[in-house]
Amino acid sequence: MTTKAIPGAVPEATAIRLQLRSWPEVESYLQQCKGVILPLGSTEQHGPTGAIGTDALTAEAVALEVGRRTGVLVTPTQAFGMAEHHLGFPGTVSLQPSTLQAVLRDVVLSLAGHGFERVFVINGHGGNIASAKAAFAEAYGEAHRRQLPGADRLQCRLSNWFMAGPVLREARQLYGDREGQHATPSEIALTLHLEPSLQRLQRPLPEPAPAGAIHGPADFRRRYPDGRMGSDPFLAQADHGARLLDLAATALSQDLTEFLGDELAT
Ligand code: NI
Repeated sequence: MTTKAIPGAVPEATAIRLQLRSWPEVESYLQQCKGVILPLGSTEQHGPTGAIGTDALTAEAVALEVGRRTGVLVTPTQAFGMAEHHLGFPGTVSLQPSTLQAVLRDVVLSLAGHGFERVFVINGHGGNIASAKAAFAEAYGEAHRRQLPGADRLQCRLSNWFMAGPVLREARQLYGDREGQHATPSEIALTLHLEPSLQRLQRPLPEPAPAGAIHGPADFRRRYPDGRMGSDPFLAQADHGARLLDLAATALSQDLTEFLGDELAT
């Protein structure tokens, strides 16, 4: 992967954050690249030893690394996701599916209105998938009705970092069946790499409830009393997290490059 510089002589790590760019810089960027990365997370319980912000922290880290490698701008992280089933646990903050759909639709339409034509959503939470896809469909229709200049070229792609092939294979190799489906050692490992203070929470845990169905918050807490679904996050290590971040960023950078095609900065 060739690292492409975006306009303006600013440090690389700063350059890819939309928050740290001025509007003339964004205008200038758009003359060279119509792509943008949107990190999408969740703010929800991750078992008794995992950080509430796990899904947002991980999505943001992968997004910033993909941005650094490709030179594609990264928007602020949408840190509230669809986590209705986790509301039985303190600290969880959830958007209803229709709310998340409306938020993402408006974000995409804002970006499309300025000329962005490829919105690459890097997602850290399975519960967001349905709403994100519905939001894309809504944004396409609305962009068309508003007759936005690039409406017919607007494309969004949802890329779930934790489902990238190399990440799944590495998690399988490291943790086998102990990976589970929620508060997984792979996502916890990434947070330990990003935020070493979280090591203080790590401790051996009793056998988790097996992964299974997901319904409402009370039902979820009954089935999964400590919030885990078949996972053993005590297996997580910070160096695993560094490796998983690299694998995710490599896979998603390739995905993004393919998605952008000739829209990529030159
Ligand atoms: Ni998670």
